[in-house]
Amino acid sequence: MTMLLVEGLSKRYRDHQVLTEVAFGVGRSEIVGLVGQSGSGKSTIAKCILGLERPHVGRILWHGESLSERTVRRRARRGMQAVFQDPRSSLNPRWTVRQLLSEPLDNWLPAERGVIRLARLARLLDRVALSADLLDRHPHELSTGQCQRVCIARALAPEPDLLILDEPLSALDVSVQARLIELLLDLHRTSGISYLLITHDFAVVADICQRIVVLDKGNVVETGKVDDVLSRPTHAYTQALLRDVLPMPG
Ligand SMILES: Nc1ncnc2c1ncn2[C@@H]1O[C@H](COP(=O)(O)OP(=O)(O)OP(=O)(O)O)[C@@H](O)[C@H]1O
Ligand SMILES: [Mg+2]
Repeated sequence: MTMLLVEGLSKRYRDHQVLTEVAFGVGRSEIVGLVGQSGSGKSTIAKCILGLERPHVGRILWHGESLSERTVRRRARRGMQAVFQDPRSSLNPRWTVRQLLSEPLDNWLPAERGVIRLARLARLLDRVALSADLLDRHPHELSTGQCQRVCIARALAPEPDLLILDEPLSALDVSVQARLIELLLDLHRTSGISYLLITHDFAVVADICQRIVVLDKGNVVETGKVDDVLSRPTHAYTQALLRDVLPMPG
């Protein structure tokens, strides 16, 4: 069964049709890239999946059950987590790393305390390759890359099956981006977690995704295995997007 299935998703803001019958899935341990130009509706899809926006038409299934059911939504709140573009605005500046990581844990493991909790915090930091020395720092005492690692650690805290990553690298320097891509691949290899990775960077998609969904003005115009789509794009829009970012052969 496909872990996350989006079916016939349409969304309008007043008279502006933002999504039109969008359909795609994310399987277990799969990395799916969702690409498209600015304004094509990528974040709106993420918000609909995360329950931050309501689709006008369509269904979103989580492990085969509709997210319109409250009990399914509750399960999904733990099973799918999100990481956004700007790590600093995602983190409460008054909190320490310890507080930032404890908050999601308090939701899932409210009784956990003392050395057991501390060991879990250290493990979480270790998974995102940060030192436990950072526990008492505030976001302004961290680099942007470190902040994004804290955001990823927060997202991993409830041990989700799926991370929805909305342009997680855009705020970072190129060298920091490369290290974060390595980190995401490591996490995927060791835990089998799935990603829905939203980006307009085809190079990143080529590096880490298995499947790709190409969005143009709210329509899925192409979907398939990354290698197939990138080497033989069938849709004019995908070809044009690729021409912008990759040198054409010959
Ligand atoms: N709350 C809103 N009210 C009205 N229109 C909105 C709202 N949110 C998004 N839109 C519009 O919906 C369209 C899709 O926006 P969305 O943020 O999903 O695009 P995106 O693909 O994520 O773009 P970007 O790459 O710039 O992040 C845009 O035209 C945007 O202006
Ligand atoms: Mg967006």
